[in-house]
Amino acid sequence: MRIAVCPGSFDPVTYGHRDIIKRAAKMFDKVIVLVAVNSAKTPCFTAEERVELIKVVTEGMDNVEIDTFDGLLVDYVKEKGAVAIVKGLRAVTDFENEFQQALANKILYDGAETVFLTTSAENMYCSSSIVKEIAKYGRNIDSFVPSKVRDVVIERLCKTNKKEEEK
Ligand code: PNS
Repeated sequence: MRIAVCPGSFDPVTYGHRDIIKRAAKMFDKVIVLVAVNSAKTPCFTAEERVELIKVVTEGMDNVEIDTFDGLLVDYVKEKGAVAIVKGLRAVTDFENEFQQALANKILYDGAETVFLTTSAENMYCSSSIVKEIAKYGRNIDSFVPSKVRDVVIERLCKTNKKEEEK
């Protein structure tokens, strides 16, 4: 069985992530969506919350599983016997960082390849950070996330909601 791991912060998961997961699921027998720790980021949602939101967007994808891990990605990949790490690439801006990670992961563990999938054109500008930024101001994030994710994100981040709670 050819297993791929699709790692990320998923804080929160977006249509861009869903697209990459769905396409990876066609290429591999099993895809594990892994909520991992990016030490450069402070997440807004707990790992459990992120898993719940990923469940929503991967509903019906039968060969997709979701997991969490707070160690080195390659250790997880090795433990699962995965042959690939799948990442989405939007633009040149993603490239340098992703390239560094891919090289470092390859040095740490030679048993899996990093596979980059180019983003679909409609998700070119879709990122978790942009979703959170727009949600803070209570504006429409429907182009980026499904309604169940939208509701959770707006509830957590919208400044107007917060002011109401403080009253
Ligand atoms: O969605 P992100 O934040 O771009 O995902 C980055 C992530 C979580 C995949 C990356 O930081 C990662 O692999 N973290 C696990 C720890 C690890 O292996 N770090 C070394 C990467 S070279």
